[in-house]
Amino acid sequence: MQGLLVSIATLAVSLFSATGAAQCDRETLVAATDSLIAAQTAGKLDSLGALDGVGYLEQFKTADITKGILATPLKLDFNRSLHDTVQCATYTEMVAATGSHPYVIGTQMHLTPDGKITNLSSLVTDTGDWLFNATGTLYWASRENWDVIPEDQRDSRDVIQAAADAYADIFDDKSVTVPWGSPCARLEGGAYTGNGSPSDRCDVGIPNGVKLVNRRYVIDETIGAVDVFIDFATVPDSHEFRVEKGKIRFVHTITVMG
Ligand SMILES: *[C@@H]1O[C@H](CO)[C@@H](O)[C@H](O)[C@H]1NC(C)=O
Ligand SMILES: *[C@@H]1O[C@H](CO)[C@@H](O)[C@H](O)[C@H]1NC(C)=O
Ligand SMILES: *[C@@H]1O[C@H](CO)[C@@H](O)[C@H](O)[C@H]1NC(C)=O
Repeated sequence: MQGLLVSIATLAVSLFSATGAAQCDRETLVAATDSLIAAQTAGKLDSLGALDGVGYLEQFKTADITKGILATPLKLDFNRSLHDTVQCATYTEMVAATGSHPYVIGTQMHLTPDGKITNLSSLVTDTGDWLFNATGTLYWASRENWDVIPEDQRDSRDVIQAAADAYADIFDDKSVTVPWGSPCARLEGGAYTGNGSPSDRCDVGIPNGVKLVNRRYVIDETIGAVDVFIDFATVPDSHEFRVEKGKIRFVHTITVMG
């Protein structure tokens, strides 16, 4: 009897985590990413609400939010956000390509269910970072389709995360099977592995013997996307994936070298 109850409890827990119960409203998270974009555009923190006690990181290091990138007004040419209602978390990709100082920024935020930001972590890349070319990032990112996926064709959170994990694992273990899509394209910094054609491939030029650790995921199953903040060996890095029918369609990387 006790054994049965334990099995039922275990089953309930695994079903719960596989399905992922929403902790936050999507609207709350969308309002938060809209505020982030407004703040970055204005170079003013006001729109982000009370920031007392917020954990702020730049390049994975504790920093002063009032002196960080958000204090600089940027004309954004592209932005896209992931909204993770299970973890109350967001990821926003921002490209400023046409201003005086080009940047590509990736930001993960964590919030309370009522929308107060508790943690804000940004990777800020510019000239000198890995394959940095904001013009290239803007060019390719704005040509890709990351539209909302019809509900009956969506992958589960687990499938989306597993695709990202397989990709991250193959950098240190070539025996891993990665669910490559066909086509599939990687936007690394501003460089593209494809050319926007049906023959684009992602399984090219992956180094060996690199451990991708300390993975922090933000998952948005409505667009089949996951962003992972990773220690790429020791380098602060973001890998963002679009997964369609269990297969990797797009990968975007932001890697801080400076
Ligand atoms: C949020 O920030 C706090 C304080 O800096 C830190 O202890 C915590 O680990 C952070 N949580 C996440 C999810 O980053
Ligand atoms: C952010 O992206 C949305 C959706 O593409 C767009 O409508 C909006 O104008 C963008 N905001 C800025 C400040 O570029
Ligand atoms: C940056 O990307 C653009 C658009 O793909 C390309 O035309 C340009 O040559 C690239 N610049 C460098 C320095 O690679």
